[in-house]
Amino acid sequence: MFSLRPMKKSDWSEVASLIYLSTNHWYETKQGHPAFSGGPQVCLLFCQVYEDLDPGCCLIAEHNETGAIMGSCFYHPRETHVSLGIMNVHPNFFGAGVASALLNEIIDFTKARQMSLRLVSSALNLDSYSLYNRKGFVPTAIYQDMMLEVPKTGIENPKFDLSRVRDADLEDISAMGALEFEVSRISRERDYCYFIENDDDIWHVSISEDKDGQVDGFLVSVNHPASNMLGPGVARSAEVAGNLIVNELNQHKGRSPLFLVPADNRELVDAMFSIGARNCELHFSQVLGEQQPINGVVMPTFIPETG
Ligand SMILES: CC(C)(COP(=O)(O)OP(=O)(O)OC[C@H]1O[C@@H](n2cnc3c(N)ncnc32)[C@H](O)[C@@H]1OP(=O)(O)O)[C@@H](O)C(=O)NCCC(=O)NCCS
Repeated sequence: MFSLRPMKKSDWSEVASLIYLSTNHWYETKQGHPAFSGGPQVCLLFCQVYEDLDPGCCLIAEHNETGAIMGSCFYHPRETHVSLGIMNVHPNFFGAGVASALLNEIIDFTKARQMSLRLVSSALNLDSYSLYNRKGFVPTAIYQDMMLEVPKTGIENPKFDLSRVRDADLEDISAMGALEFEVSRISRERDYCYFIENDDDIWHVSISEDKDGQVDGFLVSVNHPASNMLGPGVARSAEVAGNLIVNELNQHKGRSPLFLVPADNRELVDAMFSIGARNCELHFSQVLGEQQPINGVVMPTFIPETG
């Protein structure tokens, strides 16, 4: 019924429409609100960012008779692992094995590299949970999606010490890579370079330094009609993570960005409640293959996915 092939530039518009329609279908039917607004073309962001970072790493399922794109999935080979990006199937073809076929290809690609495959998926979405669960993925952490309307004047709260937080520059990249490896045993320095270079003017990166001037945390954020959220980021402690979150929220004055915090980090969750954040969803990080212990605080995102 369908064949798999890599996405081409001429597919971008159809893939963007598929991401918009398929994701909104789940959010509208299960959560009562869409995930994306502004029209399907906002989701060109995924094609653009992922092709910039990983050219050729989007697989599509094409209907053998009509040529329609039935499903798509992005993936991201990194120094230490492969991560799975956004996965979508057209609602007309749910339950026909499209996602399973896409995932099998990416699992084979990952296994050939003897790496683990990592992802972040909604804990409220039984369809996607079951898809990954049947293939052997294991949840490794729970994250609370939190949201906060940032006052137009920004957040000023003595609990958060922003004096050691500054904007990142390209010279920070190797320290960011080393810190992420220390905290979560993964590394992806090319991604950080892309965020800091910020050619499209949608990214911002904060760095935190300890009293000896060593990087002890960083956090990225994106501001685009398809995604206004904080992450990815890591920090050595809840205190550093809180400072980074507040500093990045202050880049989004008057907006309501989303951010994910580890549910088992009570100190950080309470700090976020203290500034008025509200829970809006739950996500699991999941791994197929070797699991690595986390040694600090991980703040994942959906673009690009971390796991
Ligand atoms: C989640 C989604 C990608 C699944 O796509 P799909 O093509 O319908 O999935 P498949 O037909 O390949 O089925 C997936 C697997 O889950 C299994 N499954 C589904 N519901 C299940 C359940 N409740 N318990 C156990 N297994 C279940 C199926 O049997 C199948 O496994 P199999 O291939 O081993 O038989 C699709 O529903 C979608 O695009 N949803 C909207 C967007 C979204 O949520 N994306 C995921 C973001 S992470």
